[in-house]
Amino acid sequence: MNTISKKEGRVSWKSPSNIALVKYWGKYGRQYPQNPSISFTLSEAHTITQIDYLYREKKDAVSVTFLFEGKENLQFEEKITKYLTSIIDVSPIILNLDLRIESMNSFPHSSGIASSASSMSALAMCLIDIESQLNNNSALDLQKASILSRLASGSACRSVYEKIAVWGESEFVEGSSNDYAIPYIDTINPIFHNFHDDILIISADEKSVSSRAGHALMDNNPYADSRFKQANEHLEQLIKSMQSGDLESFGSIVEKEALTLHALMMASSPPYILMEPNTLLAINQIQRFRKESKVPVYFTLDAGPNIHLLYPHKFVHEVGILKEKLIDYCVDDRIIKDCVGNGPEKIE
Ligand code: PMV
Repeated sequence: MNTISKKEGRVSWKSPSNIALVKYWGKYGRQYPQNPSISFTLSEAHTITQIDYLYREKKDAVSVTFLFEGKENLQFEEKITKYLTSIIDVSPIILNLDLRIESMNSFPHSSGIASSASSMSALAMCLIDIESQLNNNSALDLQKASILSRLASGSACRSVYEKIAVWGESEFVEGSSNDYAIPYIDTINPIFHNFHDDILIISADEKSVSSRAGHALMDNNPYADSRFKQANEHLEQLIKSMQSGDLESFGSIVEKEALTLHALMMASSPPYILMEPNTLLAINQIQRFRKESKVPVYFTLDAGPNIHLLYPHKFVHEVGILKEKLIDYCVDDRIIKDCVGNGPEKIE
């Protein structure tokens, strides 16, 4: 058994958001997905989390202070305390630690950009780094980071890997698991390795229905079973098109996934709409531009009004012309230029 060699220290990680191409929507048990999903790991939309830790005698309760963007944030602190308490069985060392956590985002939280994915994966990376420092072990257990991220916020488990990740059991994906995500880049056509994802900020307001509530509403959604079946089929079809580099098939599945996600929300009881009028106007422009220009640019949506504009690197110039039109639909002309990225990064 390893002995603790270090009593205190600091770890700091920058971790990205991710955007699902086949969506996880509906969960059961301890944050398990009802269907498998696949995502691009992003680059620009990220969270930086720093933890100062002190190892001491074991206590009964988690000890944490939390600062968000330089200020004490009791609401977030409460959430983090609850989360850390819930994972003591997975990481018992937490009861031996005093933690001072500081976190900051590169984008507005709760605005439909998965801030929980970047923040929770950054926190999980810090936690596994602390464990390996205390155990004098230089190897980082990414699978454990993915499990810890999942327990905080399902989709966050995909952010710990570079470029593309799959989460959730699928007969089609060897090694896939409901417990953690796996990296999925090796067989994918290089055109997707540096794909662009520009995020049009249609609204930066907090969402009216949280993802947690949205998942719960899937329990009684009359279309749930057919949706879970469809997601499995979409995953297989999408991976095949990403392996062969078939952009048209990629785009048609991805857009269908985005609209299906929002259709499920509209078919929930009570029904709700997270898209804004400008979301629809922008989608309309994107589809019209694609038809006229033959440029392979597609959209997807997260659980919110903002639009992710997906396209291959070689069409940056052409899509620039489209963005000049789309900027009118964005709040404060905000577009986050993002692309497929290299996963979490340790900050020394
Ligand atoms: O990870 P959660 O619980 O915030 O759920 C996110 C669900 C979607 O972002 C809508 C889809 C996905 O797979 O990321």
